[in-house]
Amino acid sequence: MINLKINGQDVQVPEGTTVLKAAEQTGVTIPTLCEHADLHPYGGCRMCVVDVKGWRTPMASCTMPVNEGMEVETHSPAIEKSRKTILELFMSNYHDSNYENGQKEETQFIRWVKHYGLDPQASMAPIPRQQVNSDANPFVWVDLNKCIQCTRCVRACAEVQGRFVWSMAERGFDTHPVAGADTDMLDARCESCGACVAYCPTGALDNKMSMGAGKPDKLVRTTCTYCGVGCQFDFNVKDGKIIRVTSTEEAPVNGNHLCVKGRYGYDFVQHPDRLSKPKVRRYLLEGGEKSHHTSAWDWVETEWDTALDVAAKKLHSTRMEHGADKIGVLTSAKCLNEENYLMNKFARQVIGTNNIDHCARL
Ligand code: SF4
Ligand code: SF4
Ligand code: FES
Repeated sequence: MINLKINGQDVQVPEGTTVLKAAEQTGVTIPTLCEHADLHPYGGCRMCVVDVKGWRTPMASCTMPVNEGMEVETHSPAIEKSRKTILELFMSNYHDSNYENGQKEETQFIRWVKHYGLDPQASMAPIPRQQVNSDANPFVWVDLNKCIQCTRCVRACAEVQGRFVWSMAERGFDTHPVAGADTDMLDARCESCGACVAYCPTGALDNKMSMGAGKPDKLVRTTCTYCGVGCQFDFNVKDGKIIRVTSTEEAPVNGNHLCVKGRYGYDFVQHPDRLSKPKVRRYLLEGGEKSHHTSAWDWVETEWDTALDVAAKKLHSTRMEHGADKIGVLTSAKCLNEENYLMNKFARQVIGTNNIDHCARL
């Protein structure tokens, strides 16, 4: 264990802990931007600088390991002034063409900007330097006018998704992320998982489907129905409609990670084509005699009891006339394990066939 002082308070943490994490353990919040607990430290934005007794210059606490006897000051007037200056410098190169104070979720960056007393509208660059919506990806909105070169997108794509789509190009004032060899994201092997969006602290990368949707009224934590992994995320709901999905580090299985279906495949929930009540062919409701009239084959909305009765009778008559092996059962990856187990019992023990399969094998 290493002993040090943070803001005069004695702290003991395991060797290898960063000053930032040691401060967190004592309840001190040091502002950060390029740092994220899921990603390797980068030490690029300098928001997390602290004074360390005996060191000539402020040090980045997110990359600095603790040392025995260290004395750290996290919020001295000089340090706070330097954080404000860093934010002013970022804002001089930042432009949000759609900035509407309070109309949308505030990013981590804008929260710090306001925290340090800056007016985002007044302090941002007057004109954009880059094309807004500069990538054809159908899910990821790219507006590098809001980029602060924190490289969280680069690290998220490499370390969380394993695709290595983003890297940083050019130097100095012109430094910016590029996909592949400065091409479109999809050409650079992007899988549209949205991890880079989830980790971007400024909204330079955003969810295209949710642009202009505003703030949610509530978040609803749920479990994805697409496959059996059991990823959790929050539906952002506004006026009873899902406006976006946000991942959460509290999700026990997946943390902030999601695949393209979980993050962006939610429009089926409120799609007008989605069946919300059972439908039965008209002729089955009218006695079951097949007819050549096309109207007899129309789908008719009905109640669950009626639909289940029709299905049960049809399964029964097929089994009696042709045998159980003329029936096959297909279940779904969207069902719970328990529901799939019951379908297995239903096929083998109630109907009497081994013809059962699952859509995840398709
Ligand atoms: S959407 Fe996913 S795969 Fe595509 S660049 Fe972002 S993190 Fe990488
Ligand atoms: S796009 Fe976002 S995550 Fe990537 S470097 Fe810029 S600010 Fe950071
Ligand atoms: S958060 Fe430490 S340098 Fe960016």
